[in-house]
Amino acid sequence: MSIRSSYIWMDGEMVPFENATTHILSHSLHYGLGVFEGIRSYDQVGGGGGIFKLEEHIRRLLDSAKMCRMEVPYTLEEIRQACLDTLIKNEFESAYIRPLIYLGMGGMGLGARNNPVHVSIIVWKWGAYLGDEGIQNGIRVATSSFTRHHVNANLQRAKITGHYVNSIMARYEANDNGFDEAIMLDHSGYVAEGTGENLFIIRDGVVKTPPIQNILGGITRKTAIQILENEGLKVHEMLFGRDALYISDEIFMTGTAAEVTPIREVDRREVGPPGPITKMVQETYVNGVRGQVDWMKPFITTY
Ligand SMILES: Cc1ncc(COP(=O)(O)O)c(C=O)c1O
Repeated sequence: MSIRSSYIWMDGEMVPFENATTHILSHSLHYGLGVFEGIRSYDQVGGGGGIFKLEEHIRRLLDSAKMCRMEVPYTLEEIRQACLDTLIKNEFESAYIRPLIYLGMGGMGLGARNNPVHVSIIVWKWGAYLGDEGIQNGIRVATSSFTRHHVNANLQRAKITGHYVNSIMARYEANDNGFDEAIMLDHSGYVAEGTGENLFIIRDGVVKTPPIQNILGGITRKTAIQILENEGLKVHEMLFGRDALYISDEIFMTGTAAEVTPIREVDRREVGPPGPITKMVQETYVNGVRGQVDWMKPFITTY
């Protein structure tokens, strides 16, 4: 799949793809202070496109910017409309949507305070993040030698560009060792999350997921919890170690990019093919984002 589109929204203008560039002295490029979101729109059964949880994503984007003391010159409503406009301009229905807020050129150095805050919205076609085979039959993962950020080392509730160096190093390591994805442990050794996904484990019908303390509060995680609870399954938000992974009946990851991806192997120990609870969550999610589940209906269903 290509990351190309015809137009990118930059500070209120639709800029042709080739011209959507930024100055090499943009502050965010040097020090990693930028915030972003990953959103998906889906073809809707019955026609049109629908952006899933658009408002929630933009709220998190603006919260991330606020935590980072970045003053965004657009409102939630304006950014929401810009996401929609960018999809329409590119004539995309199902797509990945990437709003990015970054600091442009002005002062350099860590204390620079008055650099302009830029907002861009990029859309591209993106298939299964961890592969079609992974979505269907499950992925192979390894616990990482890289520790997830300590809660006080960063602003973990924010989706900050610089946070992702930790994730990229873990992903490289996992891939170089022949695995699809990494599971990151926190500074105390408890399971935290994937490099870009949250994680659920199931044993004897009991579902557990790490609490939101040093992980990103995933919007897909929240949806998965609702799906499970609607089926009468209580989700225990609690800490557990890697030992719990090794005796789980089912494990799956959630994320806007990864959607609901089953895990079939951890650290070369077999978990098994996707189990019934994973399949139920996956199926409901896939139907819901396409407008087939009332309470999950995408924010905008036709454009
Ligand atoms: C580190 C991390 N954890 C979890 C998630 C899942 O979040 P969401 O479901 O909101 O996409 C993401 C993706 O944004 C992520 O980058």
